[in-house]
Amino acid sequence: MRRVWIETYGCQMNVVDSETLMAILVATGGFVAADSVAEADIILLNTCSIRDNAEQRIWHRLDELGALKRRRKGMIIGLVGCMAERLREGILEQRPAVDIIAGPDSYRSLPLLVKEAEEGGRGINTELSKEETYAEISPVRLDGAGVSAFVSIMRGCNNFCSYCVVPYTRGRERSRDPETILREVGELFNAGYKEVTLLGQNVNSYSWNASGKGGRVYFPELLKQVAEVSPQLRVRFATSHPKDISDKLLETMAGMPNICRAIHLPAQSGSSRILEKMNRKYTREWYLDRIAAIRRAMPDCAISTDVIAGFCSETVEDHEATLSLMREVGYEFAFMFKYSERPDTVAAKAMPDDVPEEVKTARLTQIIDLQNELSLASNKRDVGKEFEILVEGASKRSVEKVFGRTSQNKVVVIPRSSKVGADHKIGDYVRVKITSCSSATLQGEEVI
Ligand code: 5AD
Ligand code: SF4
Repeated sequence: MRRVWIETYGCQMNVVDSETLMAILVATGGFVAADSVAEADIILLNTCSIRDNAEQRIWHRLDELGALKRRRKGMIIGLVGCMAERLREGILEQRPAVDIIAGPDSYRSLPLLVKEAEEGGRGINTELSKEETYAEISPVRLDGAGVSAFVSIMRGCNNFCSYCVVPYTRGRERSRDPETILREVGELFNAGYKEVTLLGQNVNSYSWNASGKGGRVYFPELLKQVAEVSPQLRVRFATSHPKDISDKLLETMAGMPNICRAIHLPAQSGSSRILEKMNRKYTREWYLDRIAAIRRAMPDCAISTDVIAGFCSETVEDHEATLSLMREVGYEFAFMFKYSERPDTVAAKAMPDDVPEEVKTARLTQIIDLQNELSLASNKRDVGKEFEILVEGASKRSVEKVFGRTSQNKVVVIPRSSKVGADHKIGDYVRVKITSCSSATLQGEEVI
């Protein structure tokens, strides 16, 4: 038995991929999940290439693991995921201690790659696939709490936003068989899970040809079927591309209370000129029209976004347009980044990375400050209102408290002790009233 330790970097998709590759290894009968890096025979880094700083972290981690390997004979280091796909054998020139290199579509070959490494060679597979979705594999859940799980519904991306490396590292978009998705969700619910998040780079282009069984299945239909597994199961999804988010989807959400009232709709920029250079295929006006449609369908829906500061040729006016878009939408939450040029993307090839680093930093700071204001304003509007939360764990600040999330995906901290009976447990639904807030969290109390 070899003990395997996986460290996951980057997006939620990588979290599922780590769980999937662990399932592939465990199914051979020769591997178990290690409890710590100290006892591991095989250490896998599931990597991210989205920005340069993500890759820098991984280079540093490889240095630490290289030092560990010199002390621990026979230890195997594997680099898997997006960075493996992007740099392939090139990794070895920089870090010869790496034994295995596997891209996101080659995890079924991992047992073989380990064998090759154990025999003194190197196990390398970075082939991308047009079909692989790991459809029938039930991931080994590594997170522990057993309340909320990510479920992959598609892989890859066909959008080719000019700044983004994902279409090159994860390959073409392909959807997973809905029957296998529904089976996995059913298994999770039976195992006590109360929330699933359906994952894809662009879930709104989900499309499955169920020939002979009622034609094509698109995302709204899939979402409805998943939500019908049980009214006690919360359903979330990410990520939606603004160009593809349909009224049909909003109708489906509005019709089912267990589909959570939260939409992540990355704007990236508020300037139509920059959006065109980014190849986002929508304008500021189109984006705002979609926001209006969300508000009409679900006035209580939280909206979050991704924003990039300092993309190629971004002027002060473009940046101001991003700030004004953020104000106009009033986002609940945002992921905010400085533009990082990625080799071989369209932007890297054709557009100079000409916004100086200090300007990017200053703009990002303004964006973050504004979002903090918007988050606080949104949280203040919640004070006095009632929500149902799903309890996820103990509060980090106080043993007397637990935290859960609202349908809108906001964290609420409440006293651990219930007003009736035993303490609140992980996985309980609790009705709460919000009593106070900061920009990051809500404080609440149970209402009966
Ligand atoms: N530089 C900065 N941010 C990027 N993102 C994707 N590529 C880059 C890049 N080259 C951001 C986008 C995307 C999120 C996952 O990461 O905002 O939505
Ligand atoms: Fe990257 Fe755009 Fe695809 Fe998202 S939609 S993964 S930003 S190319």
